[in-house]
Amino acid sequence: MPIQNELKLNVAFMDELHHEFEEILDEMKNCKDNPKFMQLFFKMIEHTKNHFKTEEELMTKYDFYDKQEHLNEHESLLSEMIYFYEKAQKIPLFGKSYINEYAYDKFRRHILNIDSQLAMFLKENQ
Ligand SMILES: [Fe+2]
Ligand SMILES: [Fe+2]
Repeated sequence: MPIQNELKLNVAFMDELHHEFEEILDEMKNCKDNPKFMQLFFKMIEHTKNHFKTEEELMTKYDFYDKQEHLNEHESLLSEMIYFYEKAQKIPLFGKSYINEYAYDKFRRHILNIDSQLAMFLKENQ
């Protein structure tokens, strides 16, 4: 599934990372096997760490004006994801409801409100 138009920022590396995230999310939504679901959940966390780190390195490199706010959002998104991953190890339903009902919307909002500003900045300053 190609990245949905509303989330496309026209910065290639960001669009690619966001698209990969959506692919992992879709795979998780369709996953019926719990050990596999948890493996994918772990993969999502690793992917998200790398995704955020990549953006953060560029914010530092180009001295992005709103870096701190962006870092704070990354930290809260990531710690929430890890919280649900840990909960899901005992109560799988917690993980499933996070994935099925919250994760996409959380990321969608981050991309539209925060990443979009970084994308615009990079297009002007890179
Ligand atoms: Fe992003
Ligand atoms: Fe971001």
